[in-house]
Amino acid sequence: MRKKIVAGNWKMNMDLAEGLKLASSIDKYFSENPSNKATVIVCTPFIHLAGAHEILKHGKIALGAQNCASEASGAFTGEISAWMVKSTGAEYVIIGHSERRSYYNEDDKTLNKKTLLAINSGLKVIFCCGEVLKEREEKKHFLIVKRQLEEGLFPLSVEQMDKIVIAYEPVWAIGTGLTASPDQAQEMHKYIRDMVKEKYGNECAKKLPVLYGGSCKPSNAAEIFSKPDVDGGLIGGAALNKEDFTAIVEAV
Ligand code: PGA
Repeated sequence: MRKKIVAGNWKMNMDLAEGLKLASSIDKYFSENPSNKATVIVCTPFIHLAGAHEILKHGKIALGAQNCASEASGAFTGEISAWMVKSTGAEYVIIGHSERRSYYNEDDKTLNKKTLLAINSGLKVIFCCGEVLKEREEKKHFLIVKRQLEEGLFPLSVEQMDKIVIAYEPVWAIGTGLTASPDQAQEMHKYIRDMVKEKYGNECAKKLPVLYGGSCKPSNAAEIFSKPDVDGGLIGGAALNKEDFTAIVEAV
């Protein structure tokens, strides 16, 4: 059985004190109410990572970043490398989020470079894919996700795929209040798993976690998570609030 995962993506929210306060309250909640059904991850801004690691290191919650550089080190002012992320105690990094793809022009090739650097630095990667509304309306959503995975992920070896969690996030559902229906999510998750099976074999496909993201909240999480190929969620807005985030984990 695949273990379920619920990962919070804090995006560019909260100053250092606010972020550490949220990390402490989530940590306290899961120390008192351990979730044996799901792996819980919080992906914080870079500046929170080291402090959040101090808070979370003895508890049950794993830590991740939301991005890393596409180069290993050197004269890249303002960038944060995968290795630097790893050195904070983080275990995960989100790569290929639609906000990175669209606002920062990150293409599939760059995302593949980042993914390899992250894995080689000892991180696990939450690799995001998903179509925009126009692409879904034109019924190109499968083609888009296929291209994102083939170019961004499939240069990886089967051993490297062990370090991957895929997050399917239809862009039209992110932060909009719209969600994919449970059937739409299941349909795409199965498509993704079938692609992985064709490329890497059944063993790899069976153990690969595929998360859903896009306006997931306590009221819709249980239904989406109940689908056989949905292995949990990547949560944005609702991860900024302890009550909502913990309720979504409980919905697994
Ligand atoms: P949302 O964001 O839950 O606020 O829609 C999800 C994400 O972007 O990861």
